[in-house]
Amino acid sequence: MRCVLGVLATLCALFLILSDAVDPSNFKTCDQSSFCRRSRKVQSSGSKYALIPGTLNTYADSLTADLVNKENHHQFAFKLEALVGSSFRLQIDEKQPLKPRYRVEHALKGQPQTGRIRVQRETDGEIVITSEGNKAVIHGDPFRVDFYENDVLVVSVNAKNWLYFEHLRQKSQEPPAAQAEHENQQEQDAAVETPKAADAIDDPGAWEENFKSHHDAKPYGPEAVALDFSFPAAEILFGIPEHADSFVLKSTSGTDPYRLYNLDVFEYIVDSKMALYGSVPVIYGHGPQRTAGVYWQNAAETWVDIQTAETNVVSSLVNFVSGSRKSPPPAAHFMSESGIVDAFILLGPKPLDAFKQYAALTGTHELPQLFSLAYHQSRWNYNDERDVTSVSAKFDEFNIPMDTMWLDIEYTDGKRYFTWDKFKFPQPLTMIKNLTELGRHLVVIIDPHIKRDNGYFFHNDCTERGYYVKTRDGNDYEGWCWPGAASYPDFFNPVVRDYYASQYALDKFQTVTSDVMLWNDMNEPSVFNGPEITAPKDLIHYGNWEHRDVHNLYGHMHLMGSFAGLQQRDPNQRPFILTRAHFAGSQRYAAIWTGDNLADWSHLQHSIKMCLTEATAGFSFCGADVGGFFGNPDAELLERWYQTGIFLPFFRAHAHIDTKRREPWLFPERTRLVIQNAVLKRYSYLPLWYTAFYELEQTGEPVIRPLLAHYPLDKEGFAIDNQLLVQDRLLVRPVMQQGVSKVDVYFPAVDDKKNGDLWYDVDTYQRQEKSGYVSVSVDEYKIPVWQRGGSILPKKERQRRASTLMINDPYTLIICLDRQGKASGSLYLDDEKSYAYRQGQFIHVNYEFANGQLVNRFIGKPKYKSDAWIERIVIAGLERVPSGAGITVNGVTQQLEVLPHEGHVVVRKPGVKMDVDFALKLNY
Ligand code: NOJ
Repeated sequence: MRCVLGVLATLCALFLILSDAVDPSNFKTCDQSSFCRRSRKVQSSGSKYALIPGTLNTYADSLTADLVNKENHHQFAFKLEALVGSSFRLQIDEKQPLKPRYRVEHALKGQPQTGRIRVQRETDGEIVITSEGNKAVIHGDPFRVDFYENDVLVVSVNAKNWLYFEHLRQKSQEPPAAQAEHENQQEQDAAVETPKAADAIDDPGAWEENFKSHHDAKPYGPEAVALDFSFPAAEILFGIPEHADSFVLKSTSGTDPYRLYNLDVFEYIVDSKMALYGSVPVIYGHGPQRTAGVYWQNAAETWVDIQTAETNVVSSLVNFVSGSRKSPPPAAHFMSESGIVDAFILLGPKPLDAFKQYAALTGTHELPQLFSLAYHQSRWNYNDERDVTSVSAKFDEFNIPMDTMWLDIEYTDGKRYFTWDKFKFPQPLTMIKNLTELGRHLVVIIDPHIKRDNGYFFHNDCTERGYYVKTRDGNDYEGWCWPGAASYPDFFNPVVRDYYASQYALDKFQTVTSDVMLWNDMNEPSVFNGPEITAPKDLIHYGNWEHRDVHNLYGHMHLMGSFAGLQQRDPNQRPFILTRAHFAGSQRYAAIWTGDNLADWSHLQHSIKMCLTEATAGFSFCGADVGGFFGNPDAELLERWYQTGIFLPFFRAHAHIDTKRREPWLFPERTRLVIQNAVLKRYSYLPLWYTAFYELEQTGEPVIRPLLAHYPLDKEGFAIDNQLLVQDRLLVRPVMQQGVSKVDVYFPAVDDKKNGDLWYDVDTYQRQEKSGYVSVSVDEYKIPVWQRGGSILPKKERQRRASTLMINDPYTLIICLDRQGKASGSLYLDDEKSYAYRQGQFIHVNYEFANGQLVNRFIGKPKYKSDAWIERIVIAGLERVPSGAGITVNGVTQQLEVLPHEGHVVVRKPGVKMDVDFALKLNY
């Protein structure tokens, strides 16, 4: 069912909300997207591009040359640049386009730092560029670029000859057959098969395109860009979120490619390559010896074909280099509707290196306020002030910690953002104050669509000042969303972003305080009556760019406005924003969640797969609606969902307006206790989450990680996506199947001899000594989690109603020893809220245990004054139980009690403050 006509749109929107599941026919297949079918067709025909001899220019950090399409003689400008940190940037644009082609802005965190190059010409015409011990080898004809990390070929560009670049052209150049759109698929296929002239694009969708009742005018005609990337040292590919699919990308042979096009897809299908709300065009190839990545910087609709590897990696590598590889290595074919080729090659060599290289380009989430890592309670909707206050009170009554209440769209006055419904929320400031006094926060939703209502200041401002996105003929575009008729601010215009940001000032949005944070939803943008439930591609943005060029960036630009607004509102408070749409770099502004999932077991399982992929693409701050957005989870599903949700970085329960209320106390006591137990566990690990986010900001290393991040040699672990690592300290394998009393857990191998780390069950301290699968018993309370032997992690174990009340609570250090009796691990702390940490107001410390002694080493000078102290030290893996321990501070030694327990000992009350140097020695 499509929503077509304005008058029917309300009914349509209602239908979309109430109907059972997504209807895939509302969304295009590759074949229905003319540029995709043209770009894909190159896979069978091949294309012919060559460097033009004599056009090479070399500079200190880069090289340029002209490239020609040998069939139509059109010329292109090729540029290869070395970047500091084992990366290269490869760009191809038309040499003299009829009009400039869109180059993505605002995704990179800044201008990448370039590295120095050395250029050498080989006798066979190859050009070899070396930089930082890595090299790129350019082959002129056919055009191909091979990238070597330390002499190992890791990425080969255009090895398949699938480079395809549609130059801009005058419409009249086209044969008549190309000027009309044919609905009939057979006719389309026939037309595609019989090109009329070398330079002609004889596709009925080249100059205009219809999808269902929607017409795309395509005034600039065909302008696709496509290129293939092979990963000769890899066995698997992963990345390119957002899809509800496995962590390892599947072959697209015989299916549609993976699609990257930000769309509002409710009740999405799992195990699917369909597009969802976010598009992050970064892909990684991983094999035991090497990990490499490619960031395809293009914001237009993009499809990615995946070819998987079939053979043994060593022989395929040898064969590939020698040209005799029987089966091709894994490869990705990126196909975008417009823009230029702008590809960053990330050379690794280890998984974390590649993730860090990507983070060096697009940035990381900045350290979030601690409260945002705690538990969030949401539903569409908490109805009124009484509802909010009473739900908050119930959490206290049942002793379940909760930090943040959320208000969905119904709090507004008729979906006019920056206003309140005065009947349901007559005293928002009092309500907010009541929450804040309890240590809690409020998050309100602000969507980008603006109600077209002459009585609404925001609409009037945008109309009078020309702030809305325009139609081709220069009028304000009018779509349909929650408020009914709506228009969409053009966030690409810096003036519009400034205006938007200024709305958050407390003298404008007078009914909130600076503790109220933000949820940006529907920012794909969602347009109920638009093509594929989004904006038409021929709309016009600031700078005269078509929506087609920038679609996947719209949400990102919305976030930039919002983030600036929150920072300006209170420059010393770190903003918290949750967004649904996202693009490369959006992680600098917001956390994400996986959108409108379903209360069923397969969606629970996909929450981990999806967030693991997102984490490798920069989005560590990821979660899924706990309980499932649509439908009503039974008690068991809800329990297991909470237990899983506590080990994803963003932890929020949320539900659709038509679902039954599902706050924990509405279920039988057992369920409430299981949920309480899980939430308390989350709170106890908050120091670890917080430390991990600080370290993410500093290093770019994801907070949650797939097994291969630390066990790159273990092939069996590559595809495991029902388990995750929190940094390299915890191994989490939540129960995500119904009615089970056992789960199979995979303990990864550290080498190719199947040796494993030691792992300690966090509840019992029972050890796992071997790698491989182990069947583990689970009762309803059990969340299978292990701490790695060799790691130390911080916890806080006192129960509070909200994380903000825990700031001075004492720490417990959990030390799990490796086979050598050693362990180390870090802790980060600060004021949990402000930017003072950027002025050095923090404590970052590494704890090291060896030979029965624990010491702390500060990373930087500990400037932050904390009232917290170390209450308890747990040590697991000792060979003998010590008789006691002595702690030495400032030359004075004090004796401490050590209590033996099953599998571990507890050193009681070291009592030392967090910024004080100490050494603790076990006595025997
Ligand atoms: C769609 C979002 O995905 C969902 O979480 C939210 O509740 C509804 N919009 C209403 O705002």
